[in-house]
Amino acid sequence: MNILVLGSGAREHSICWALKKSKKCEKLFCSPGNAGIEKIAECKFLNLNKKLQILNFCKKNSIDLVVIGPEEYLANGVSDYLQNKGIKTFGPVKKAAKLETSKSFAKSFLLKNEILTPKYHKFTSLNKALDYLNTVNFPIVIKADGLAAGKGVVICKNLNQAEDTVKLMMKKKKFGNAGEKIIIEEFIDGFEISYFSFIDKNTFLPLGYALDHKRAFDHDRGPNTGGMGCFTPSKKVSKNLEKKIIKNVIEKTFLGLKKENFIYRGILFFGLIIKNKEPYVIEYNVRFGDPECQTILRKLKTDFLEILSSITKDKLGEIKITNSRKSVVCVVLASKGYPESYEKEKLIPNLKKIKDNNRTIIFHAGTKTLSSNLVSNGGRVLSVTSIGKDIKEARKSAYKVLKKLNWKDGFYRKDIGFKNF
Ligand SMILES: Nc1ncnc2c1ncn2[C@@H]1O[C@H](COP(=O)(O)OP(=O)(O)O)[C@@H](O)[C@H]1O
Ligand SMILES: [Mg+2]
Repeated sequence: MNILVLGSGAREHSICWALKKSKKCEKLFCSPGNAGIEKIAECKFLNLNKKLQILNFCKKNSIDLVVIGPEEYLANGVSDYLQNKGIKTFGPVKKAAKLETSKSFAKSFLLKNEILTPKYHKFTSLNKALDYLNTVNFPIVIKADGLAAGKGVVICKNLNQAEDTVKLMMKKKKFGNAGEKIIIEEFIDGFEISYFSFIDKNTFLPLGYALDHKRAFDHDRGPNTGGMGCFTPSKKVSKNLEKKIIKNVIEKTFLGLKKENFIYRGILFFGLIIKNKEPYVIEYNVRFGDPECQTILRKLKTDFLEILSSITKDKLGEIKITNSRKSVVCVVLASKGYPESYEKEKLIPNLKKIKDNNRTIIFHAGTKTLSSNLVSNGGRVLSVTSIGKDIKEARKSAYKVLKKLNWKDGFYRKDIGFKNF
């Protein structure tokens, strides 16, 4: 099969890596890709807004499967367009992507389908939102309705902070249209997990989970980021809890999608907070998470290409998933200054000296090749991903590589997977 992967993060690098392992993978293309992906796939820049350009590329290269990584492509209707033109595509259509692109849409879907989620109110009027704040207990969670690149959620400790946040979103329009509507939500005190399930028209198939570290600095300090590292599995997640997640969250969601007549062919990410052993759905993401994807795919034993390809034919029911029992830890190496401002095109001198091995793979995110040198090209730069017999062993391998990398223009958290296992 000839495959085109869309995206440029470590998530897409790990997707390419997993696809490449399949005997059925013939030619692998990626757009736009990065310096790591370039080594295993042919990279080509295709404009996300020029769907015809993507279609023509698919026709010219006899592409049998398009795999969409980032939400922007899904929000932009790339999956609808390609599927309508007869190209098999992994990733949901725009209507179903609304589960991620509108938090208020996701909330009403959750309520309609009787799935446990924090209590909330939706506002389109600044004054009504401000009045409401006088009636709540703190902390409270304020969320911009639309896509805000992981920055549209603020946990407010007091009235002052909450008023400022609402004004920033609705009056100063910090997130543009995404903040015209907001939701104000009950704070749930528990631990967070990211759970994943494949879905096609006929069925769903749970894949697994990872625990993400969103804050920039050790001990969960500093601003929220796209994710600084994660690990799987965790002792906190019992078989019973998983059963509950599958029955009360995934199955109900799948049936809800059916009721709405949303044809969903892809992966669905359930952002959950577990409190008193009950999973609350915090959000849906309509694609793989980054860095969760890097860890989960390293445990997957089933042929990844076969899974994706069967989903596009609505034959997911024929697949059985086998995961390794080992543990995986992923530590993100980011540019100094991330998630705020940072410099690009910084040399990563030791990277070319370090070879991937059975234990550790370095997935690239913001990297590019500049006059045959590897340089940084984004906030999150590398995902060092290690597998081991337990979390401790996997952690050890990952940090050993980070030490060797010794990148003076970057930073990483030292406590990934340190607690919770
Ligand atoms: N109701 C809530 N209670 C406690 N923490 C929350 C709640 N909602 C969100 N959070 C925290 O904020 C983070 C971001 O919220 P989320 O809804 O996942 O938005 P996004 O990923 O789009 O930024 C979550 O990962 C979680 O840590
Ligand atoms: Mg989230």
